[in-house]
Amino acid sequence: MQTSKLYLLLCLVAVMTSAQNERNTSNVSSKKTELTKPKLTVSPSETVWEGDDVTLSCKSESKQLEQTKLIYTFYREKEPRSQIILQENKILSIQQSHAGMYWCMVEAKERTAERKESDKVQVTVNESPMATLTPSNTYVYIGDRVKLDCKIDGSFTGWKYRWYKRDKKARDEHFEKFTENTYKFEAVTESDSGVYLCSAYKADSPHFSKNSSAVTVTVEGRTAKLEMKAERTDGKIFEGDQVSLQCQVIGNPVGWTYELYKTTDKNQYETKAESTFTISSASLSHRGEYWCKAVKGTLYFSSSPVPLQVSESPMATLTPSNPYVYIGDKVKLDCKIDGSFTGWKYRWYKRDKKARDEHFEKFTENTYKFEAVTRSDSGVYLCSAYKADSPHFSKNSSAVTV
Ligand SMILES: *[C@@H]1O[C@H](CO)[C@@H](O)[C@H](O)[C@H]1NC(C)=O
Ligand SMILES: *[C@@H]1O[C@H](CO)[C@@H](O)[C@H](O)[C@H]1NC(C)=O
Ligand SMILES: *[C@@H]1O[C@H](CO)[C@@H](O)[C@H](O)[C@H]1NC(C)=O
Ligand SMILES: *[C@@H]1O[C@H](CO)[C@@H](O)[C@H](O)[C@H]1NC(C)=O
Repeated sequence: MQTSKLYLLLCLVAVMTSAQNERNTSNVSSKKTELTKPKLTVSPSETVWEGDDVTLSCKSESKQLEQTKLIYTFYREKEPRSQIILQENKILSIQQSHAGMYWCMVEAKERTAERKESDKVQVTVNESPMATLTPSNTYVYIGDRVKLDCKIDGSFTGWKYRWYKRDKKARDEHFEKFTENTYKFEAVTESDSGVYLCSAYKADSPHFSKNSSAVTVTVEGRTAKLEMKAERTDGKIFEGDQVSLQCQVIGNPVGWTYELYKTTDKNQYETKAESTFTISSASLSHRGEYWCKAVKGTLYFSSSPVPLQVSESPMATLTPSNPYVYIGDKVKLDCKIDGSFTGWKYRWYKRDKKARDEHFEKFTENTYKFEAVTRSDSGVYLCSAYKADSPHFSKNSSAVTV
């Protein structure tokens, strides 16, 4: 009886154990089928820009395990057949060294033996494009126009631009309101001198290009100088001469206008787009001091005053060697201009009965000689003088009767 009782008990325990075993086994096998192969997703995309923040997510369809904690692990292939485990599923400011194969693994908390791995996903990291800053010119003068062009290599559309000016403490001031690819100065001032750099960013992403290298723009000061030019080689200016007044501004000025002033006049004399003012026939009333102003927008430079001296035409004087002569006499007519002039030539005229003056065109000396006068040489003579290299004449001498 004792023996049979014990046997029964043993049997019962065996049956119970086996049942529990079966239940456990069935539980495990049913769970194995529930943990599906996970899928790795890379956002914003499997191809990203250097500097982007990248998030990895891993998902397994395991409906009946909702109450069970699933553990995900992310891997990156280091070299073929070696791997590193990522501490986080986020990569902040991804670099090119982060490019490679990624995958994930899922496991249920209590049964780590049941792990499932995703397929491997290639993550590509594009290098940031390079920005290049090209200035229209780097050495300019006040008032010049300067254009800075920022370009990124590659064919990108929809990018915006950031502009910086570096101060003396090497801090870059960002021109926040300006996002075009060309930065223009219509008229630079000295304070625009400095170091500029730019970068570009895609309008709908936080992604930036590399910064351009820094470009130095130097703005030089300007001065105006009024230069007076007369047509005579000796620099003297006589009535009737042409005089040009040039307002000279250094450095190839573009877009400036020029104003000419006479110091005795309150009003400005003339304004022009060209820097040269011409007085085509100087008169005594043009005498005075002149100065000029070069103007561009609100910028201007004034010259110092320069005197304009206009001399009266020199007077010619005709002097006959002897006013009353007889046929056969030797007669000399001398033409002289007052003042000390060199290189002048002379014009000679004989006045006929109708008061018309006949010009002795071939004769330009200052002395007109008759070796032996005839009756037909009787008459009225006059002379004038002119400088060989100019079209202007002295005043005519008074008429002299021989
Ligand atoms: C069966 O499952 C129960 C409860 O989960 C556990 O305590 C027991 O150890 C398991 N038995 C076997 C043989 O795995
Ligand atoms: C075994 O499976 C049953 C029914 O599916 C469930 O109620 C029970 O919680 C499971 N046991 C374990 C340890 O998961
Ligand atoms: C570009 O320059 C700006 C201004 O100095 C700076 O804030 C930024 O970090 C730089 N960007 C890169 C990618 O070096
Ligand atoms: C001088 O006389 C000539 C001849 O009559 C005349 O053609 C010319 O205009 C005169 N010049 C001046 C400055 O009066």
